Amino acid sequence: MDPLKNPFNPGAGTRPPELAGRDKILEDAAVTLGRLATGKQDKSQLLLGLRGVGKTVLLNEIADLATKNKLENAFIEAPENRKFLEKFIPQLRKVLLKIDRTTKVKAALNEARVAIRNFASVFKLKLGDIEMGVTPEAGVADSGDLSSDLTDLLVATAKAAKSANTGVVLLVDEVQYLTSDELSSLIVALHRVAQLGLPLTLFGAGLPQLAALAGDAKSYAERLFDYPEIGPLKKPDAINAIADPIKEAKAGIESAALTKIYKVTEGYPFFLQEWGKHSWNAATGKTITAADVTAATKTAIASLDRGFFKVRLDRLTPRELDYMRAMAGLGAGPHGSGEIATAMGQSVSSVGPIRGDLIAKGMIYSPSYGKTAFTVPMFDAYVRRAILNLEPSRPKRTIAKKKKRRRRERARPTGGSVLLRRGRPFSAFCICIQVRRVVADYFACDFHIARSAPVAAHLIKCRL
Ligand SMILES: Nc1ncnc2c1ncn2[C@@H]1O[C@H](COP(=O)(O)OP(=O)(O)O)[C@@H](O)[C@H]1O
Ligand SMILES: [Mg+2]
Repeated sequence: MDPLKNPFNPGAGTRPPELAGRDKILEDAAVTLGRLATGKQDKSQLLLGLRGVGKTVLLNEIADLATKNKLENAFIEAPENRKFLEKFIPQLRKVLLKIDRTTKVKAALNEARVAIRNFASVFKLKLGDIEMGVTPEAGVADSGDLSSDLTDLLVATAKAAKSANTGVVLLVDEVQYLTSDELSSLIVALHRVAQLGLPLTLFGAGLPQLAALAGDAKSYAERLFDYPEIGPLKKPDAINAIADPIKEAKAGIESAALTKIYKVTEGYPFFLQEWGKHSWNAATGKTITAADVTAATKTAIASLDRGFFKVRLDRLTPRELDYMRAMAGLGAGPHGSGEIATAMGQSVSSVGPIRGDLIAKGMIYSPSYGKTAFTVPMFDAYVRRAILNLEPSRPKRTIAKKKKRRRRERARPTGGSVLLRRGRPFSAFCICIQVRRVVADYFACDFHIARSAPVAAHLIKCRL
């Protein structure tokens, strides 16, 4: 069908043509915002979910609702490698500039503006060109201690909003990128605002590890926030997400085609948009058929591999890629950290720092103690698809290590017998090239796949 009329437009944070299955979250948000609009306090929320489930879309919806409720709001996407405050403070300043300067609120507003000026000067942050129009005053948000100054600042902002009969909604995306200092200071400040019953609330969004990060930063975080889980859509919602926009565009889709889309996307919102878009483009008639979806699957996967998935692998170092490859070789996950280390032929402690870096980059997370999972749905399948082009990195070997390795290789029998060092844990590195070739023949898989040490190790471990 005509791509110009295609209703689907997958993207990061782009509003879907049909925002399906999120009514409960939006209803809860509406209650919080309604309370703020009447000067009351309500619990902050952290929306948790994998990449592409629709967290940013929800934050944008909540921002629109806040505006409709005449609440001041600021949307901040936490940067990965920069200070959060550099983005946060200018947005908060905009909020303060928007609050009415009537006589009634003048004193409270002045205090908030003094606080933000002092804060910016102590933490060396640029506030922007527009003057705040206040005279400096010592003692507010100028101690140099982040948590106490941020508390002063948010309390003063909330008081100013309250005296102007409004409330403040902070919308922060990618909260997992905040440093532990920034996160704990934000939690302390929100805690104080809540204790004082002031109308300021945070709606945050982030990867699932955020709940643990917040708990580690401050143990009372679990009582301060609600943590709605944002997951894949249930079948009826996923079907609505595809069928409704098509109907709206005066076209049709067979129910077998809808079932097929649900099956292949598992209800993940971003994938639904991709399959919707490609199925529409693949259809030759006015109705999308199951055959169109089959054709669309190829183009949709190719498009994900080029974009959504690839950009994530491109940011990794060779050692981090090894870790991802080992994980993908084990399946969708979650996997035990020990299993992954074994598949890499290394000890858990030696791969610990790589795991830590991958968590910090938002590639993987720990769903429970000792477990590791991908933050992107279906990423394991992508890594397995891409594995042919990925050479495992070769850790630098010292001369002594090289000699030892050569001695070991000479002592190895070749051709047919699989080598496991007696009495030692199984190690991927004890498999020589010849053995990997035999493994490839034996398991009738591509030699390139078996050539990847962790995958060969996994195959042997599973099948022997
Ligand atoms: N409830 C939903 N129904 C249908 N599509 C959705 C829904 N939520 C999000 N999407 C689509 O999914 C894609 C990813 O959304 P986004 O908010 O960027 O996810 P996240 O922030 O969790 O990574 C977007 O193309 C968006 O249009
Ligand atoms: Mg997002």
